[in-house]
Amino acid sequence: MSHTERWALILGASSGFGAACTRALADAGFNIFGAHFDLKSTLPRALQVKADVEAKGRKAIFFNKNVADDRNRAEIIAKIQEYFESGGGGSIECMLHSVAFGNLKPFIADQPADAVDRKALEMTLDVMANSLVYWTQDLARAGLLVRGSKVFAMTSAGSHRVIPGYGPVSAAKAALESHTRQLALELATKGICVNCFQAGVTDTPAFRMIPGHAQVKEQILRLHPDGRMTQPEDLAHTLVALMDPRVDWITGTVIRVDGGEDNV
Ligand SMILES: NC(=O)c1ccc[n+]([C@@H]2O[C@H](COP(=O)([O-])OP(=O)(O)OC[C@H]3O[C@@H](n4cnc5c(N)ncnc54)[C@H](O)[C@@H]3O)[C@@H](O)[C@H]2O)c1
Repeated sequence: MSHTERWALILGASSGFGAACTRALADAGFNIFGAHFDLKSTLPRALQVKADVEAKGRKAIFFNKNVADDRNRAEIIAKIQEYFESGGGGSIECMLHSVAFGNLKPFIADQPADAVDRKALEMTLDVMANSLVYWTQDLARAGLLVRGSKVFAMTSAGSHRVIPGYGPVSAAKAALESHTRQLALELATKGICVNCFQAGVTDTPAFRMIPGHAQVKEQILRLHPDGRMTQPEDLAHTLVALMDPRVDWITGTVIRVDGGEDNV
């Protein structure tokens, strides 16, 4: 391994935006550390993404682990460090947090079992927002994020719009955007940029879990300025473009990749 190798860490690499960004970054010359959380039924998609990266002549080291767990995070970061140390050094140039694992119950329901509760609300915030802070803290502390490294997270219009059944995830997205601003502030002098992508509505497995997603899709197709939904590749191409080392003055902000959807 040489220091000139480019490495990305993708949290949520097996599906949707994470998978598309993994493939696009591999096309652009990046090797990939990928984390995902798949059971037997969905594991083949992770293996396919890994195989696709390797078919492009890049290295792919994948971890099937819950990235919101402190021990798993420590274990993955230790393995990345060991890997770099055994080859004489290295760092994470791009980190993408693209984890979808939230509760989608309403806040108000006649039966408590039908409404979001404390555990579900806290779990959603922890996995979809707070874990960005813990990963960024630990990667920076381990010396794996360096001058020129870029951290990205995935927000949505739900951070500022109300969508039935999306309350816990809406809260997580608002928190994620706040965490992004704060991390960007505290990492600015280290030359590390932190931003959120606000993707348009995209037909992924996570989207299909949202109550009423079929109506949302129909509404997007009717109202979207370009008459189509966002594709994971729209985001992936944007991410690759922003990985140009000359792009180093965008930080602490939300970058919309939605074809103008949030204006209508
Ligand atoms: N699909 C949309 O319309 C849309 C729009 C805007 C933002 N987003 C956001 O983009 C991100 C990715 O969503 P997606 O639509 O690509 O979802 P997806 O279901 O296609 O992919 C989710 C990925 O996260 C991984 N994952 C889930 N929980 C995990 C955990 N605890 N530990 C490790 N990995 C875990 C899965 O294995 C998978 O690789 C989410 O934050 C989502 O809120 C989605």
